[in-house]
Amino acid sequence: MLLMVKDKSIYILGIESSCDDTSAAVICNGKVLTNVVANQEIHTKYGGVVPELASRAHQQNIVPVIQQAIQQANIDKKQLSAIAFTRGPGLMGSLLVGSSFARSLSLALNIPLISVNHMQAHVLAHFIDDEKQEKPPFPFLCLTISGGHTQIVKITSYFDMEVIGETLDDAVGEAFDKSAKILGLPYPGGPFVDKYARLGNPNTFEFSKPKMADLNFSFSGLKTGILYFIQKKVKENPNFIEENLNDICASIQRTIVEILFDKLEKAVELTGIKHIAIAGGVSANSEIRETLKATEEEFGWKTYIPKFEYTTDNAGMIAIVGYLKYLENDFSNQNTRTTARLKVNEN
Ligand code: KG4
Ligand code: ZN
Repeated sequence: MLLMVKDKSIYILGIESSCDDTSAAVICNGKVLTNVVANQEIHTKYGGVVPELASRAHQQNIVPVIQQAIQQANIDKKQLSAIAFTRGPGLMGSLLVGSSFARSLSLALNIPLISVNHMQAHVLAHFIDDEKQEKPPFPFLCLTISGGHTQIVKITSYFDMEVIGETLDDAVGEAFDKSAKILGLPYPGGPFVDKYARLGNPNTFEFSKPKMADLNFSFSGLKTGILYFIQKKVKENPNFIEENLNDICASIQRTIVEILFDKLEKAVELTGIKHIAIAGGVSANSEIRETLKATEEEFGWKTYIPKFEYTTDNAGMIAIVGYLKYLENDFSNQNTRTTARLKVNEN
């Protein structure tokens, strides 16, 4: 008699569509099998994400991206244990594409649905199983830095998170992208500023930093300061940007890094927590990574830096939260609403 061995593995399909990346991932027992991301080039020429175009592009991308994620994981969709999707925060039209697809597929396959907070997912990407990545122990602090958010989060357990500092205006990703725009660089400009900064002298130009006593950030003043500085310099010399691009980028980046680490040092002082993680798209920045690593020797911190593919928006981070919630039987239902605003401590 042939004995059928039942596969007890837990397979979670993650779907992320909160902004301008359509992504799907399959995770097996916490290990990422596939993490497919389709970027939307369409926004480049507008210098920022156009919400209406983003949701249209999600609609075009979602089926092939999910198909690819399942096929390349070498599983049949019937093996999926649950579907996790981004509930918020994000652009409503974009969120609706991913969540509607997730709802339909969960009905068709008769498997549970798990809603995920995008901000929690950036942090919990650190718990994706990977022998090369050490997982942070609780409690730890996470500097979540992206195009939409800048937060210092205190994490006491998987789903117990508290924001202890955040931006009062622009996010740090916006500071990078808007500075890049002023310099005539393409959108999103963060990676370009990073690239040119590596070739420049960070002490060439001085930009003023916000003076705030608490753990909150502000980046709008820096953006305005850079704008006025560049306008003045270009008036004096129309070739100022081309002649000084590397030094300008290095000086801007150094200022941003100083603002971030000044608050992070304060947060460590206040909480006594020395396990420090970074997350979000801006944590791909090379100087932020190097500066964080250097704190291990300088201050005795223990730092956790995610792999590049789990920093910018991706469904691997949604799937890992799906897996952690699956283990806790924390399911949502067809009525769970997507929401443009969602705090890090909300589910
Ligand atoms: O997390 P993310 O992919 O999307 C949001 O949820 O916002 O972050 C995107 C942000 C953009 O502002 C982009 O310019 C920035 O991350 N970014 C970088 C780098 N790579 C991506 N900023 C600075 N240096 C980088 N290397
Ligand atoms: Zn994000």
